[in-house]
Amino acid sequence: MRSVAEARRILAIETSCDETAAAVVTDDLRVLSSAVHSQVATHARLGGVVPELASREHVVHIIGVIDAALGEAGTDAGGLEAVAVTQGPGLVGCLAVGIATAKTLSVAWGLPLVAVNHLEGHFHSVELEAGTVEYPAVILLVSGGHTILAHAPRLGEYRLLGATRDDSVGEAYDKVARELGLGYPGGPAVDRLAGEGRDVLGLPRPMREGMDFSFSGLKTAMRREIAAGSASPADLAASFAGSCVDVLCEKLAKAVAAIEPASVVVVGGVAASPILRRRLAVEFGDSLILPSLKYATDNAAMIGAAAWTRYRTHGASAGDIGPVPNLRFAA
Ligand code: KG4
Ligand code: ZN
Repeated sequence: MRSVAEARRILAIETSCDETAAAVVTDDLRVLSSAVHSQVATHARLGGVVPELASREHVVHIIGVIDAALGEAGTDAGGLEAVAVTQGPGLVGCLAVGIATAKTLSVAWGLPLVAVNHLEGHFHSVELEAGTVEYPAVILLVSGGHTILAHAPRLGEYRLLGATRDDSVGEAYDKVARELGLGYPGGPAVDRLAGEGRDVLGLPRPMREGMDFSFSGLKTAMRREIAAGSASPADLAASFAGSCVDVLCEKLAKAVAAIEPASVVVVGGVAASPILRRRLAVEFGDSLILPSLKYATDNAAMIGAAAWTRYRTHGASAGDIGPVPNLRFAA
């Protein structure tokens, strides 16, 4: 392995939602720094992410976060090979802050700009510490904004197998958390509480057919059960988590049976759930690759990892790129 001093480095910037993040990642995917400024305190008071406030917070913190990432990595502009940034999907005003900053730095420092799809970033998060993806791969992406099942026949090519028709699973976790009075962001709190309870309610496992998902009916059923006080909060949470995990694993198993992949990759914020991780490990064994916990939720190191692949295969991005809030991952 080459020494850190010899390694090529990329600065990656991520501002698609409510984390202002920057990281320095080497071309052999060592994370020299990964700085994240969370806006939880700002949005918690209001019960969810307020896009206008999120953009404003990014403007306030972005330079400090980049400085922290460069400082921790012990590098400056002279030690970098490129500047990478999330182009989408995400909140348009939030993406714009990261992109404007990255473009400015790329011009000022004379470095190539590399635009990255946030969801491709989540996929590449497993290359940091966790493992090496072998192809063909099946990918389950479970985040606050998305629930997607995809097939990657080879590096950089993604085919959509299924997606949610309404809420994402992360969104359902967050809404159930609010109903249970667990605050924002509630996914991790619901998951912790679920660990102390039992799935006593036998809630519906929505949309058994096909590979698409639907979580809004489950969310409504939960609202009813919570209002009726039909079980203890821990048992309510465990029943909800049980239904989500069953559906996710069932659909993933269908995709695995159809594709017979070499790797099964599960990424995104909900992949931080210990309940989901345990169940996946039992069902998918050695072919399963999960991100390490610190890279499951939004961060810039995963953007750096995806950027190296993108830069190698597609070269630099054009200087006139703008945010693409609905950027697709797989068609
Ligand atoms: O990937 P991510 O950080 O942001 C997006 O790209 O959306 O995912 C955030 C989502 C939130 O909905 C959050 O509640 C959920 O991931 N989440 C969890 C856990 N940790 C984060 N859901 C269940 N269990 C967890 N431990
Ligand atoms: Zn994300």
